[in-house]
Amino acid sequence: MDTDLPPYFENVLDSYERGTHNRCVHLGYYAPNTLSSNWTLQEAQEEFDDRLLSEAALSPAQKVLDVGCGLGGLVDRINSKYNRMNIVGLSNDPRQLEICNSIRPKNHNSVAWVEADACFLPFPSASFDRVFCIEAAFHFGSRRRFYTEAQRVLKPGGLLICTDIILRESSFQFPNNARCDSGPQANDIEAFTKRSIHSLLLSAFAPWPDPWYSMASMQNEIIEVGLTAPQIQDWTLQTSPSYQGMVSQSKPQGHHGTRDPMLAALSTLQFLHLNQLLQYVYFTCVKNY
Ligand SMILES: C[S@@+](CC[C@H](N)C(=O)[O-])C[C@H]1O[C@@H](n2cnc3c(N)ncnc32)[C@H](O)[C@@H]1O
Repeated sequence: MDTDLPPYFENVLDSYERGTHNRCVHLGYYAPNTLSSNWTLQEAQEEFDDRLLSEAALSPAQKVLDVGCGLGGLVDRINSKYNRMNIVGLSNDPRQLEICNSIRPKNHNSVAWVEADACFLPFPSASFDRVFCIEAAFHFGSRRRFYTEAQRVLKPGGLLICTDIILRESSFQFPNNARCDSGPQANDIEAFTKRSIHSLLLSAFAPWPDPWYSMASMQNEIIEVGLTAPQIQDWTLQTSPSYQGMVSQSKPQGHHGTRDPMLAALSTLQFLHLNQLLQYVYFTCVKNY
């Protein structure tokens, strides 16, 4: 398969092999009263998964697909907590799927792994009760194409459960009076800033083809493909403490720049997140009958 795999996954796979990374490759959820507590990233990731699963209201014998399943963290959790489920994890990276393969079915569940692109799901129409897509859609060639495919493979009444990262484009729009007669125009500064942020993110998190995708596009496209209007929760604040552990795992960055592309990208994402220049969104929507 012709794939474009995110460079940061080299580090994730390496850390997993060394035993310093768990199966979750997503941020943690720090409930408001725990924001300043000593929760580890792993505890916050477990809270994150529990919230997804309580909303998903899974019941025995359902068929569940996790698109962009990473190292199988969510599949592992469903396999441990529920019984008689048919669970499928899908990723575009065979190395990740090899790690997933060590998850053995429990509780009379079946577990399968599929290598494919999220925009071309190799399943018949109306075959799943639930489709999860956790912190992966920003990598996809086209979110719209993924929503179309998710809608197609869901059974009528089935649920799509996603988290995604959406940059707030309006925060990068400079007022016209910021223009200075002899200097660059406001729209040039805006274009330069947006290009620079995109480049920094790409250095570790590529592919990220459409960083200026908006909440409005997301809502419109989901409805246009035949899903119900998404029920959206903003998890920006609750997920923002997650970087503490990650950044301290790599070298701390001072006031100067860095030649380490991973650190540059992670620091950029952290800055955007802590300053709410991006939104971390959680949403669910249902396939219309
Ligand atoms: C941040 S990780 C999230 C992994 C997992 N959902 C989790 O929460 O632990 C993003 C995942 O999306 C996968 N991915 C990226 N682009 C993809 C595509 N076009 N099709 C399928 N998976 C893709 C990556 O390989 C990676 O596993």
